[in-house]
Amino acid sequence: MTSTALFSRNFKKAYPIAVRGEGCWIFDDRGRRFLDAAGQAAVVSIGHGVKEIGRAMAEQSAQIAFAHTSQFHSAPAEKLAARLLALAPPNFRDGGRVYFTSGGSEATETAIKLVRQFHLESGQKNRFRVLSRRQSYHGSTLGAMSVSGNVARRAPYEPLMAEWGHIAPCFCYHCPFQKTFPQCELACADDLQVFLLEHEPEKAAAFIFEPVVGATLGAASPPEGYAQRIAEICRKNNILLIADEVMTGMGRTGKPFAVQHWNIEPDMILVGKGVASGYAPLGAVLVSSRVVAAFERGTGAFMHGFTYQAHPVCTAAGNAVLDYLETHKLFDRVASAGKNLGDALSTLLSHPCVGDVRGVGLLLGVEFVKDKSTREPFPKADNVAERVRQAAVDEGVLTYPSQGCVDGLRGDHILLAPPFTISQEECLVIARALQSALAKVFPA
Ligand SMILES: Cc1ncc(COP(=O)(O)O)c(C=O)c1O
Repeated sequence: MTSTALFSRNFKKAYPIAVRGEGCWIFDDRGRRFLDAAGQAAVVSIGHGVKEIGRAMAEQSAQIAFAHTSQFHSAPAEKLAARLLALAPPNFRDGGRVYFTSGGSEATETAIKLVRQFHLESGQKNRFRVLSRRQSYHGSTLGAMSVSGNVARRAPYEPLMAEWGHIAPCFCYHCPFQKTFPQCELACADDLQVFLLEHEPEKAAAFIFEPVVGATLGAASPPEGYAQRIAEICRKNNILLIADEVMTGMGRTGKPFAVQHWNIEPDMILVGKGVASGYAPLGAVLVSSRVVAAFERGTGAFMHGFTYQAHPVCTAAGNAVLDYLETHKLFDRVASAGKNLGDALSTLLSHPCVGDVRGVGLLLGVEFVKDKSTREPFPKADNVAERVRQAAVDEGVLTYPSQGCVDGLRGDHILLAPPFTISQEECLVIARALQSALAKVFPA
């Protein structure tokens, strides 16, 4: 055990003290520096140590740090809400609204309750079940865990969770139907329709999905047509579609929101992480005009609230981050920086244990397999992802490891999601560090 007053994530692990950040680098109190190849956890988009953000937060704090949303709105929250809606698909622009939270899990909780109240406002009081996918993650609070399908993160809390229904993941590298695109005809999307037919469709309220699955599957993107098919099934069955863009939103995949790659119009979009790039705890639910209209026609009051929702200082941070993204044209940079990183990482594919390098924009994953031809994973006990992470840290590079992508338990991958400012040289540093890490974890 290490000595600390903090209730650490892992009592058996020693955590260095981070003292400074600059661009893609983090410095600790022992003078070591680390290249932040995962943006911590796909959070940091504009880079560390951008002074303008702190200044904007200090200015807002000096003006007014807090005003309760039961009594006041604040100028930074109003401004950021309008800016997010302007970036969103067309169905958010004319009459959409934004509900700010302190992070992604609160955004998921808020969306689940919004869905329920939307159906009550619309006279559909039987609808309450929010369907989701196996092998997904939507947050750590109980409602968010209920809709998540991440086996390990759910396991200790199973007795506490509602079970509303999970359908198949969309994961071509380990297809749950053992099929191949396009011959599969998107069986994984049709699984939503199959589920609805077999499980009291009149009680279904919404479907939530990560457009590109982040932590759980290591940047698994859907094939062309998947998102459109899902949107169509939701519309046909009168259920709402929630795009959880906590990881993929705010430019990470090369568009403001990942759903814009497929031109679909979800009823709600969740953001977190990149919306304030880690400078403040902030998340949001973008609510489309159609959902807002049901509240306007109905009670006009959402039975929900957090003391710190739409916090003036956090939304000021969000505005300053968006100013920085726009001024430095960082949304536009993601595609080319993502290609540089993808090209650098693809050199790892010559290693016998690197099965797949995947992803979109600056949300990339590397999966490790025991047998490349069968895609067989390593046994869980081998702890491969964590060992690669540790070996990469020894090389000065930070990654985001996960286990369980194959069946919830087995399957090792690391996620790479660096700041949008990452240079070509830094991409090569990451690839070289991973090559050395692999040599250490899998000695010849
Ligand atoms: C897709 C997705 N949704 C929700 C969350 C939960 O966000 P938070 O950790 O800010 O509560 C995460 C966090 O990793 C996420 O990746």
